Amino acid sequence: MPNAHRYITTPIYYVNDRPHIGHVYTTTVCDIWARFQRLLGRDVFFLTGTDEHGQKVEQSAAERGMAPSVFADEISAEFRGAMDLFGLTHDEFIRTTDPQHEQQVRTFVGRLMESGDVYRGTFEGWYDAGQEEYLTETQAKEADYVSPVSGKPLERARQENYFFKLSGYQDRIEALFAEHPEFVRPEGRRNEVLGRLREGLQDVPISRTNFTWGIPVPDDESHVIYVWIDALFNYITALGLGDLSSSRAADRHEYWPATYQVIGKEILWFHAVIWPALLMALDLPMPRCVYAHSFWISDGKKMSKSLGNFIGLEQLQACMDTYGRDALRYFLAVQGPLGSTDADFSRSQFHETYTTDLVNTLGNCASRTSAMIGKYFEGICPPDTGECAGGGVEWETFTSEQVARSIAAMDRLDLAGSIEAAMSIVRRVDAFINDTAPFKLAKDQTKAAMVGTILHRCAEAIRIAACLLEAVLPDHVADLRTAWNFGESSGDLAAECRWGGLPARTVIEKVMLFPRIEA
Ligand code: MSP
Repeated sequence: MPNAHRYITTPIYYVNDRPHIGHVYTTTVCDIWARFQRLLGRDVFFLTGTDEHGQKVEQSAAERGMAPSVFADEISAEFRGAMDLFGLTHDEFIRTTDPQHEQQVRTFVGRLMESGDVYRGTFEGWYDAGQEEYLTETQAKEADYVSPVSGKPLERARQENYFFKLSGYQDRIEALFAEHPEFVRPEGRRNEVLGRLREGLQDVPISRTNFTWGIPVPDDESHVIYVWIDALFNYITALGLGDLSSSRAADRHEYWPATYQVIGKEILWFHAVIWPALLMALDLPMPRCVYAHSFWISDGKKMSKSLGNFIGLEQLQACMDTYGRDALRYFLAVQGPLGSTDADFSRSQFHETYTTDLVNTLGNCASRTSAMIGKYFEGICPPDTGECAGGGVEWETFTSEQVARSIAAMDRLDLAGSIEAAMSIVRRVDAFINDTAPFKLAKDQTKAAMVGTILHRCAEAIRIAACLLEAVLPDHVADLRTAWNFGESSGDLAAECRWGGLPARTVIEKVMLFPRIEA
């Protein structure tokens, strides 16, 4: 689908927590993917934002003696500031307190009431106040009558509620999973959902009466809409799908269905089962892929403030101050938990990745190549005369294979795979320099054309690798573009990465991309 719209979303983050590595990670993953799409010339929309309603936010605000709306404004601004700090390029930052969102949620719930997918009934069972979630007798028993998240005792509940008829969607959800094996990725996460689906789906209470900080149920103001239902709708209210006559919808409705909905593993059930069922009930198309990554842990343990291993903005900022923003993005992308296992964020691992990949490989290759062009050709890129002493590399074939591999991996949201393909070009350049030894050949005047060809090929290969890495290392690739005069991104990455794009006589300035840093 070369010209189709692409849409990527992060979860929207609760405002009763402060931004930390988890939030920065998911948003960075989406940012890298979105930037890569833009470089390819694809039309992409990237959404993130904050989830601001519910009892927990109401309580957190009360503890600080603030009105919930003032409190939400403050923390939401903090999230937005963090996104800017880390250079994240979302097209929209949605807030669930945005009146356009609220209005559309009421429209959607109203439609579900009309179709009978939402009905009024009585809930009898257990309530997990911390999670604002109702549990059936079976679920509560399994959890020993304490919250699986906070460990606090569950409260007995009997309440009039509005329910979503999730039970009516069992067959269609199963069919969705069977017909679209890529609907939930990675595979291990998909299997978890399939296992739970076999237990059978039950209707979900979707309204609350024990607090007021939320969106009122249409025609029954004594109930507010359950925060999860309110939140899930953000993915389509941001595109105006609940108000097709709006200018928002005119500009954005074509982005639905989403290409990727990236989330953490703990909120998979909502996204893999409840969300598609809501969309089915509204006759809307399914997202192409819900991608549930694993968690960053720290020093081998779940992050927690009391354990002192918490990685908040301060710690990330400190990393960024020392190593730079691109280095942080690179580390998150290559070492991050996109697969089925958690990843440890350790400062020593960070340092090693930085030194091995960015200093010793990419930085060193670019600096060696540009230094030799400086020394032997006065900083002017020599031509490729075809005269080359071995090295045994079919550069055009080799790079075109890696370019295809890098683009295909990014299409699968395999960030590490995409980066690896680019880095394999750089490593090949390094080996090529060692094999052909232009620094030795340069001592012989009659070999000048050969030295020129070798260095031309090195610079050209590095240029291609840099173009592939631009979504991950935007600041450094911009610097290299300036120093080596290969212009701005053309918006056609595939064409830009074709061998032969670096003309002879281009001015190649000496670069030092990544300084060595003491551990
Ligand atoms: N508001 C809900 C989501 C609603 S989406 C319709 C929510 N918010 S949250 O603030 O708790 O953010 C959860 C998300 O933050 C996770 O799904 C994940 O994307 C990210 N992370 C939080 N902690 C994390 C780690 N330790 N590691 C990686 N990402 C994690 O849930």
